Amino acid sequence: MSKKKAIKALQAHFSVLKDTSLSELFSQDSQRFNRFSLQLDDLLVDFSKHPVTEETLSLLMDFARACEFTSFRDRLFQGQRVNLTEHRAAMHMALRHQGETPVMVDGKDVMPDVRQVQQQMFSFAEAIHAGQWRGASNRRITDVVSIGIGGSDLGPAMAIEALKDFALPGLKVHCVSNVDPSHLGRTLQGLNPETTLFVVISKTFTTLETMANARQAKTWLLNAGLAEKDIARHFVAVSTNTEAVRQFGIDPENMFRFWDWVGGRYSMWSAVGLPILLAVGRTHFNALLQGAAVMDLHFSQAEDEENIPLILALLDIWEHNFFGLSSHAIVPYAQPLRLFPAFLQQLIMESLGKSVTRTGLPVEMQTSPVIWGGVGTDSQHAYFQMLHQGTSKVVVDFIAPVQNVHAPGVQQDMLLANMVAQAEAFLKGKGENEVRAELSEQDMTEEEIAALLPHKIFAGNRPSTTFLFERLTPASLGRLVALYEHKTFALSVLWDINAFDQWGVELGKQLAGQILHELETGDVSSNHDSSTNGLIGYINQHKRGR
Ligand code: F6P
Repeated sequence: MSKKKAIKALQAHFSVLKDTSLSELFSQDSQRFNRFSLQLDDLLVDFSKHPVTEETLSLLMDFARACEFTSFRDRLFQGQRVNLTEHRAAMHMALRHQGETPVMVDGKDVMPDVRQVQQQMFSFAEAIHAGQWRGASNRRITDVVSIGIGGSDLGPAMAIEALKDFALPGLKVHCVSNVDPSHLGRTLQGLNPETTLFVVISKTFTTLETMANARQAKTWLLNAGLAEKDIARHFVAVSTNTEAVRQFGIDPENMFRFWDWVGGRYSMWSAVGLPILLAVGRTHFNALLQGAAVMDLHFSQAEDEENIPLILALLDIWEHNFFGLSSHAIVPYAQPLRLFPAFLQQLIMESLGKSVTRTGLPVEMQTSPVIWGGVGTDSQHAYFQMLHQGTSKVVVDFIAPVQNVHAPGVQQDMLLANMVAQAEAFLKGKGENEVRAELSEQDMTEEEIAALLPHKIFAGNRPSTTFLFERLTPASLGRLVALYEHKTFALSVLWDINAFDQWGVELGKQLAGQILHELETGDVSSNHDSSTNGLIGYINQHKRGR
């Protein structure tokens, strides 16, 4: 079937289904939960609260076939150059590959290189943990400051926060990303230069923010009395660019390599994950990789109808492109996952925020939804009002581990009860009759009831997916991240876009370079618009205080 035909069939189906509410779908089918949920080991994915029937799924599967999903997925796993504009493969799966079999990228087995760098990382981490790698004054390292941004920060920062309960004692790992001097400045407050190690992470080793922070960190060490020759004991690098690392003054001996086939936002499994390894140690880092490998196997081999990342991608197509729901909230009911929405923002929006197809033609369907969110229950007391009664519908991903190592029992039950209740409220809402009955039980006049009634009605019929798993562990985190990575890839196939480039970030970088020069010299170009000129003028006038 052609793509056009598949879309037409979905459109026809949409015009029939669009007026059926989720509540109606549930009352029509007592098996709905069983029919529309899947399980992979202990991971339960309940997608029954989406406006789909078996016919919808079957039509969406036709669409996936029309987009040649299987062939594109196989090309990804074969290490072909799926990133067409940069002529690169996207083989992050090799970094978590289990066993001895080869993994080919561009016709070459990359596993010997992958294992060599992993060995280098493990030896280094062991030397830090055992106190064998010491600072220049022979003191043990107590603090690691990771400096990177975007894909060179969000993954490690998110995972370190998520896995705090697995952290090794005696070493604190901090992450600094923002060029705002307060980020590094505040992080360094209270740290001892003699016992601090910096890990500078940058694929290109040219990123303005990272280089500025790395230089500032070097200055901090020098100001504390360390000699230039001692800096090497306090700096290591993670990069694909050996020459730039050398030029920065870091011995390439102390550099951990990765490769151009590892995209920044898919890189936490590579040496970019060194801060994670330093935080949790080898066993837990390996478990993180193993968890992701479980999802790789599932995504690469499961039948379409059972394939969780594919099904989730197709649900996005259905809701985003047919129902017009372009906002997607990620709401983990787990404090350790508080950075997960920010991580997914880059993964999804940098991958899918594209307006042209793989071959450069204008896309025919809306692409990336807006990804945002925050942890429950806090979010319930912030933006959930809009989710329940606002005029725009938002699709929600609820994510929660069932068990909690901290005080299992009533508080964890409260947390989970809230999550399940919110998903139920989004589904059912609260109709006029129910609200009227409730108000009638209170001491209110008919007039008062009529005035309050519209404010208390919840339309409901708002879709959500719920992800439940037993515990938040390195393995379950790895599996969850890989699930979203593959869902993102599947969406890129369905939208016919390149998930692995990010040209859209270039223009701002270019202009920032020019404006930085203007702020430093006061020599402002006449090419700007009046707003840009006005803003530069204001900054120049006020930057030294009045
Ligand atoms: O924001 C653009 C970007 O290129 C991201 O894709 C990347 O993760 C980040 O900058 C950092 O790049 P690098 O690792 O080269 O410093």
